Amino acid sequence: MAELKLHHIYKRYGNVTAVGDFNIEVADGEFISFLGPSGCGKTTTLRMIAGFEKPTEGVIMIGDQEISNAEKGYFMAPEKRGIGMVFQSYAVWPHMNVIDNVGYPLKIQNVPKEERLKQVMQMLELVHLKEYGERLPSQLSGGQQQRVALARALVAKPSLLLLDEPLSNLDAKLRESMRFEISAIQKELGITVIYVTHDQSEAMTMSDRIVVMSMGKVQQIGRPYDIYTKPANQMVADFIGLVNFIPATAKGDRIFMQGYEGVSFPNPKKLVGEAVLAVRPEQITLSKTGGMVEGVMNHRFYMGDSVDYRVKVKDHIVRVIQKGAEYEKYKDGETVYLDFDNVMSFAKDE
Ligand SMILES: Nc1ncnc2c1ncn2[C@@H]1O[C@H](COP(=O)(O)OP(=O)(O)OP(=O)(O)O)[C@@H](O)[C@H]1O
Ligand SMILES: [Mg+2]
Repeated sequence: MAELKLHHIYKRYGNVTAVGDFNIEVADGEFISFLGPSGCGKTTTLRMIAGFEKPTEGVIMIGDQEISNAEKGYFMAPEKRGIGMVFQSYAVWPHMNVIDNVGYPLKIQNVPKEERLKQVMQMLELVHLKEYGERLPSQLSGGQQQRVALARALVAKPSLLLLDEPLSNLDAKLRESMRFEISAIQKELGITVIYVTHDQSEAMTMSDRIVVMSMGKVQQIGRPYDIYTKPANQMVADFIGLVNFIPATAKGDRIFMQGYEGVSFPNPKKLVGEAVLAVRPEQITLSKTGGMVEGVMNHRFYMGDSVDYRVKVKDHIVRVIQKGAEYEKYKDGETVYLDFDNVMSFAKDE
């Protein structure tokens, strides 16, 4: 039985469709990310699940129970839905110190003071704020306040937790460690999480499945591996990971790179006419001696664990990333050859 179900959910503001036909069944204990560029409808969808926005159309269910049905004009109040939420603006109560903020949901549940303090301190330890219990929010940084909001949402152990960019104010290092901690807490407590982010590596590492959104529409729902290796369209290929798009022409069972009539790839989607080849920078092999395509080394960026090259091929620039490569191996202006190890293909407007 699905823990959470969205059935043909729409949200319109006047003639703006913020969310258009959102459908998903989320299993009990699943970690789902909503991923997409700013303004694509992530927060709006989350707020409809929480009950702070009413869908214009569609049905939302938790288990067998309808919590929202636009046609019937039925919307269960947010506090009755049993959902935990951390808002994008991480509202914490300014007049309460950290311990009281985090303990508030337990206080409402009448958990005795001593037990409350014990659970609060466990949560504060988890979010690295053990020493900050007595402080007021105004005495904390944005990232620290965000972690207070996270601890407060977790302490109530909701069966469904909605997180709207909960790590956006943290520095890179803390962000990474919190990622693993949120995953660990989620698995340990067995809770279902909907996690909104526009950070693809966050979505890739934490999620069982990712929902890629663009302009109010779901573009693809799938496991991180499937989204990365079999993107449904060019938007998904472009948004998840890095990709080079190369114009091409599909004829029969081959796709020909434009400007290189001799260079062709299989045509598994049976495309016809104008097409686009897509190849990830790490799936290109560089060589000094020969390969499918000739180019000129244009630029090199040393990244420590890899070198990020820009190679001029005819009139466009192809990006190539080689792990563990030596920066000095190729010189700017040198002729190099590229082999495409794995190529994806799309119809021109797909
Ligand atoms: N109350 C409103 N009235 C009119 N338009 C709105 C309203 N709330 C949101 N929108 C529009 O709906 C679209 C989706 O907004 P939403 O906040 O869901 O985006 P988001 O994916 O969360 O973006 P971000 O990553 O920037 O937080 C945007 O174009 C936004 O301008
Ligand atoms: Mg948002």
